[in-house]
Amino acid sequence: MNYRLIDFNIMGDSRGKLIAAEELSEFVPFEIKRVYWIFDTLPDEERGKHAHKELEQIIVAMDGACQFVLDDGKKRETVWLNRPDKGLYIGKNMWREMRHFSYGCKLMIIASTKYDPKEYIRSYDEFLKTIKG
Ligand code: TYD
Repeated sequence: MNYRLIDFNIMGDSRGKLIAAEELSEFVPFEIKRVYWIFDTLPDEERGKHAHKELEQIIVAMDGACQFVLDDGKKRETVWLNRPDKGLYIGKNMWREMRHFSYGCKLMIIASTKYDPKEYIRSYDEFLKTIKG
Protein backbone atom coordinates (compact mmCIF):
# COMPACT_ATOMS: atom_id res chain seq x y z
CA MET A 1 0.00 0.00 0.00
CA ASN A 2 1.47 3.28 -1.08
CA TYR A 3 0.52 5.32 1.99
CA ARG A 4 1.86 5.93 5.46
CA LEU A 5 1.20 8.01 8.53
CA ILE A 6 3.79 10.66 9.35
CA ASP A 7 4.43 11.84 12.91
CA PHE A 8 5.45 15.45 12.46
CA ASN A 9 8.14 16.88 14.68
CA ILE A 10 6.43 19.16 17.21
CA MET A 11 8.21 22.22 18.46
CA GLY A 12 6.38 23.18 21.60
CA ASP A 13 6.77 25.22 24.72
CA SER A 14 4.46 26.86 27.23
CA ARG A 15 3.09 29.14 24.47
CA GLY A 16 1.74 26.30 22.33
CA LYS A 17 2.88 23.96 19.58
CA LEU A 18 4.34 24.52 16.14
CA ILE A 19 5.03 22.18 13.20
CA ALA A 20 7.06 23.10 10.13
CA ALA A 21 6.92 21.01 6.94
CA GLU A 22 9.74 21.57 4.47
CA GLU A 23 9.86 20.03 1.01
CA LEU A 24 12.27 17.15 0.32
CA SER A 25 12.63 16.51 4.03
CA GLU A 26 12.03 13.51 6.28
CA PHE A 27 8.38 14.59 6.53
CA VAL A 28 7.65 15.76 2.96
CA PRO A 29 9.38 13.50 0.41
CA PHE A 30 8.61 15.69 -2.64
CA GLU A 31 8.83 19.26 -3.93
CA ILE A 32 5.76 21.19 -2.84
CA LYS A 33 3.83 22.57 -5.82
CA ARG A 34 0.46 23.30 -4.23
CA VAL A 35 -1.25 23.59 -0.87
CA TYR A 36 -5.02 23.54 -0.60
CA TRP A 37 -7.52 23.13 2.18
CA ILE A 38 -10.97 21.67 2.63
CA PHE A 39 -13.48 23.03 5.16
CA ASP A 40 -17.24 23.34 5.78
CA THR A 41 -17.51 19.60 5.21
CA LEU A 42 -20.63 17.62 6.17
CA PRO A 43 -20.80 14.26 7.99
CA ASP A 44 -23.03 12.65 5.36
CA GLU A 45 -21.03 13.77 2.34
CA GLU A 46 -18.21 11.68 0.92
CA ARG A 47 -15.31 13.12 -1.07
CA GLY A 48 -12.38 11.82 -3.01
CA LYS A 49 -13.31 8.62 -4.88
CA HIS A 50 -10.38 8.93 -7.21
CA ALA A 51 -6.72 8.05 -7.67
CA HIS A 52 -3.85 10.05 -9.11
CA LYS A 53 -1.44 8.93 -11.80
CA GLU A 54 1.28 11.35 -10.70
CA LEU A 55 0.28 13.27 -7.60
CA GLU A 56 1.72 12.55 -4.17
CA GLN A 57 0.21 14.35 -1.22
CA ILE A 58 0.19 14.73 2.53
CA ILE A 59 -3.08 15.42 4.28
CA VAL A 60 -3.32 16.92 7.75
CA ALA A 61 -6.52 17.27 9.79
CA MET A 62 -5.86 20.73 11.19
CA ASP A 63 -9.11 20.51 13.14
CA GLY A 64 -11.76 17.80 13.56
CA ALA A 65 -11.60 14.34 12.07
CA CYS A 66 -12.41 12.27 9.03
CA GLN A 67 -11.85 8.75 7.81
CA PHE A 68 -9.84 7.82 4.71
CA VAL A 69 -10.45 4.62 2.78
CA LEU A 70 -7.27 3.61 0.93
CA ASP A 71 -7.23 0.98 -1.75
CA ASP A 72 -4.38 -0.26 -3.95
CA GLY A 73 -6.61 -2.51 -6.04
CA LYS A 74 -5.83 -5.55 -3.88
CA LYS A 75 -6.49 -4.39 -0.34
CA ARG A 76 -8.71 -1.75 1.26
CA GLU A 77 -7.75 -0.13 4.57
CA THR A 78 -9.17 2.70 6.65
CA VAL A 79 -7.28 5.42 8.49
CA TRP A 80 -8.66 8.09 10.80
CA LEU A 81 -7.09 11.52 10.64
CA ASN A 82 -7.85 13.48 13.76
CA ARG A 83 -4.70 15.29 14.90
CA PRO A 84 -2.76 18.23 13.47
CA ASP A 85 0.55 16.52 14.30
CA LYS A 86 -0.14 13.53 11.99
CA GLY A 87 0.13 13.57 8.23
CA LEU A 88 -1.25 10.99 5.85
CA TYR A 89 1.13 10.50 2.92
CA ILE A 90 -0.61 9.03 -0.15
CA GLY A 91 1.53 8.12 -3.14
CA LYS A 92 0.62 7.48 -6.76
CA ASN A 93 -2.00 5.01 -7.91
CA MET A 94 -3.92 4.74 -4.66
CA TRP A 95 -7.70 4.93 -4.71
CA ARG A 96 -8.96 7.12 -1.84
CA GLU A 97 -12.32 8.01 -0.38
CA MET A 98 -12.96 10.43 2.49
CA ARG A 99 -15.99 10.08 4.73
CA HIS A 100 -17.37 10.57 8.28
CA PHE A 101 -16.28 14.20 8.42
CA SER A 102 -16.81 15.76 11.82
CA TYR A 103 -18.53 19.15 11.82
CA GLY A 104 -15.88 21.78 11.35
CA CYS A 105 -13.27 19.36 10.03
CA LYS A 106 -10.48 21.23 8.28
CA LEU A 107 -8.02 19.38 6.08
CA MET A 108 -4.83 20.89 4.71
CA ILE A 109 -3.28 19.11 1.73
CA ILE A 110 0.32 19.51 0.62
CA ALA A 111 0.67 18.35 -2.98
CA SER A 112 3.51 17.48 -5.34
CA THR A 113 1.83 18.81 -8.52
CA LYS A 114 -0.34 21.70 -9.58
CA TYR A 115 -4.00 20.90 -10.18
CA ASP A 116 -4.36 18.89 -13.37
CA PRO A 117 -7.72 17.18 -13.95
CA LYS A 118 -6.09 14.96 -16.61
CA GLU A 119 -3.99 13.10 -14.07
CA TYR A 120 -7.05 12.08 -12.02
CA ILE A 121 -8.53 8.58 -12.34
CA ARG A 122 -12.16 9.05 -11.36
CA SER A 123 -13.57 5.61 -12.18
CA TYR A 124 -12.74 2.62 -9.96
CA ASP A 125 -12.85 0.25 -12.96
CA GLU A 126 -10.38 2.45 -14.83
CA PHE A 127 -8.18 2.51 -11.70
CA LEU A 128 -8.12 -1.31 -11.61
CA LYS A 129 -7.22 -1.41 -15.32
CA THR A 130 -4.45 1.20 -14.84
CA ILE A 131 -2.73 -0.66 -12.03
CA LYS A 132 -2.96 -4.03 -13.83
CA GLY A 133 -1.57 -2.47 -17.01
P1 TYD B 1 -12.30 17.35 -6.01
O1 TYD B 1 -11.01 16.86 -6.55
O2 TYD B 1 -13.55 16.73 -6.51
O3 TYD B 1 -12.29 17.29 -4.42
P2 TYD B 1 -12.17 15.99 -3.44
O4 TYD B 1 -11.08 15.14 -3.96
O5 TYD B 1 -11.88 16.57 -2.10
O6 TYD B 1 -13.49 15.28 -3.46
O7 TYD B 1 -12.34 18.92 -6.28
C1 TYD B 1 -13.50 19.71 -6.09
C2 TYD B 1 -13.48 20.86 -7.12
O8 TYD B 1 -12.37 21.72 -6.90
C3 TYD B 1 -13.39 20.37 -8.54
O9 TYD B 1 -14.24 21.20 -9.32
C4 TYD B 1 -11.96 20.63 -8.93
C5 TYD B 1 -11.59 21.82 -8.08
N1 TYD B 1 -10.14 21.87 -7.67
C6 TYD B 1 -9.33 22.86 -8.19
O10 TYD B 1 -9.74 23.69 -9.01
N2 TYD B 1 -8.03 22.92 -7.76
C7 TYD B 1 -7.54 22.04 -6.85
O11 TYD B 1 -6.34 22.12 -6.49
C8 TYD B 1 -8.40 20.99 -6.35
C9 TYD B 1 -7.90 19.97 -5.37
C10 TYD B 1 -9.70 20.96 -6.79
